[in-house]
Amino acid sequence: MRKKIIAGNWKMYKNSAEAVALVEGLKKELGAPNGVEVVVCPPFVNLTEVAKVVAGTHIALGAQNLFWETEGAFTGEISGAMVKATGAEYVIIGHSERRQFFGETNATVNKRLKAALKVGLKPIVCVGENLAEREGGKTFDVVKDHITGSLVDLTKEEMKTLVIAYEPVWAIGTGKTATSAQAQEVHKFIRDLLVKMFDQTTAEATRIQYGGSVKPENAAELMSQPDIDGALVGGASLKADSFAAIIKNTK
Ligand code: 13P
Repeated sequence: MRKKIIAGNWKMYKNSAEAVALVEGLKKELGAPNGVEVVVCPPFVNLTEVAKVVAGTHIALGAQNLFWETEGAFTGEISGAMVKATGAEYVIIGHSERRQFFGETNATVNKRLKAALKVGLKPIVCVGENLAEREGGKTFDVVKDHITGSLVDLTKEEMKTLVIAYEPVWAIGTGKTATSAQAQEVHKFIRDLLVKMFDQTTAEATRIQYGGSVKPENAAELMSQPDIDGALVGGASLKADSFAAIIKNTK
């Protein structure tokens, strides 16, 4: 049985004081755990402050990226060990915004992934097609390319902590959610691909999140699909009440 995982990707929103206020609010709204794993992913500069607020709660902390080198003259970069030292448990890797604006490729996703695993961070690896690719009937080709390219040389053992996030780019920040059937179709495709790449046990144990305009109103329907194991939430994770409602609507 896969435990559902709902993560909030705060992207480049919230300064330190705002981040602390948001997670304090979330703590209050959530109350006792409901069996769903909860993760918040603030910008790097707020990780340490947010870590203090979530310590001892069931809310886990994640970063939004990391660099693959361990240390050195890499101005502006943050290593996996530095992320880990803040108390973070997860790290988002290969988000479509990084692929789109910062030159991220499958090869660099793979390097970051291995760096994350090396320091014991649990990677949330993002994949998904853009609108032109979907309309051109290329969804499965693109998703297959992202998955096979990003997970090169990974062992079954390493797959144990890895989470995949299927985020169709056309659904991100657009208010245009994939229907539960559209999402389920791709999630099933990913799981079948994992069977071929690894084995049945690994595929069945791997959690696959959906991301793209997830809101309290559509969360329950999406999360009820057999191969959807949680959500990676952007906009709706920036308010304690809406993020908590998504978590509460997840069974
Ligand atoms: P929205 O929920 O704002 O569409 O963002 C999704 C996303 O990109 C999460 O990583």
